[in-house]
Amino acid sequence: MNLLFQPLKLGELNLANRIVMAPMTRSRADENAVPTELMVEYYRQRASAGLIIAEGTAPSADGLGYCRTPGIFNELQVSAWRKVTDAVHAEGGLIVLQLMHVGRAASRYNKPEGARTVAPSAIRANVQLYSDAAGMVDTDEPHALTTEEVQAVVEDYRRAAILAREAGFDGVELHCTSGYLPMQFMASGSNQRTDQYGGSVANRVRFPAEVLAAMADSIGAGRVGYRMCPGNPYNDIVDEDPVATAVALMQAVADLPLAYLHIMRSPVTGLDAFALVEEHSTVQLIINDGFDGESAERSLDNGHGQAVSFGRHYVANPDLVERLRNARPLATLNRKTLYTAGAEGYTDYPAWAV
Ligand SMILES: Cc1cc2nc3c(=O)[nH]c(=O)nc-3n(C[C@H](O)[C@H](O)[C@H](O)COP(=O)(O)O)c2cc1C
Repeated sequence: MNLLFQPLKLGELNLANRIVMAPMTRSRADENAVPTELMVEYYRQRASAGLIIAEGTAPSADGLGYCRTPGIFNELQVSAWRKVTDAVHAEGGLIVLQLMHVGRAASRYNKPEGARTVAPSAIRANVQLYSDAAGMVDTDEPHALTTEEVQAVVEDYRRAAILAREAGFDGVELHCTSGYLPMQFMASGSNQRTDQYGGSVANRVRFPAEVLAAMADSIGAGRVGYRMCPGNPYNDIVDEDPVATAVALMQAVADLPLAYLHIMRSPVTGLDAFALVEEHSTVQLIINDGFDGESAERSLDNGHGQAVSFGRHYVANPDLVERLRNARPLATLNRKTLYTAGAEGYTDYPAWAV
């Protein structure tokens, strides 16, 4: 029996198969960070995945920083997301929301009036990002959060998890990689704090651990997962010991019966992220990066991971589950339309025509 097509229980989440759609920012929300009708159609088309992890979504206005990305912090967003989750559920699918606070990886050009760019310390990320208003721009110099403000951000995530449930999501995933706020706290280069959220590695993982605990407390640990990629340098992240950092976070949340850990291969030579989390994590694993149907199946057969997530293949293959099941060829994505507004390269990839 092909394990990929077997059901799986991850915490409170009952997956019909082990093919997971990885979270992907596609920049099709409106200018107020509200999900659009196009997004309803896009996720509906992909509902045969065992689990959809919807794109990185800001838990607060401060958490926005890219073009046309969605939020989950007001009623308009909740009702718009409700259409997405209803459409996926009507097709028999399961969908969780990835909560992504970009922290310092942000430009004021992509933020609403009054929203701030915040980080553990006032250290700018040396990267540029795209804005509709001004093209490629430098990231903002971030405001270093006070201790009380850090705790307020934890509460923002708690509220976002509650709103995600109100919007019909089956759970949430905390984005702890790619140089966004949780990883900015975890990495020694971007966190120079002297309070309980900085310094030792135990202190640096305190922020994501508190966020996970708050979300587990408010919606149930079995509906909360988190994503890591040890040693990921994306968005100007430097960490003196990525292995120690990843282990510290797993240990800090070991008492929470979380739904899953979504683990990506590490870009660091010699760092086997899958082996590392198999040794230290107490929860089930969704593995990611660079899989096709065959390698995914082989990995599950060999006992590495309980489910496999696919990112790029899901861009061009809305019916990825059916294509893998029937050994159909996979379509290739068009990179040019990954982040452009509109239906082209988004909802117009057809399912396999029989
Ligand atoms: C267009 C695009 C947008 C992405 N956005 C996110 C995101 O919002 N959150 C996240 O955790 N990863 C994001 N990723 C990474 C994917 O989730 C995934 O880890 C990556 O594509 C590798 O998996 P793959 O080899 O199956 O594509 C994005 C990837 C792509 C291609």
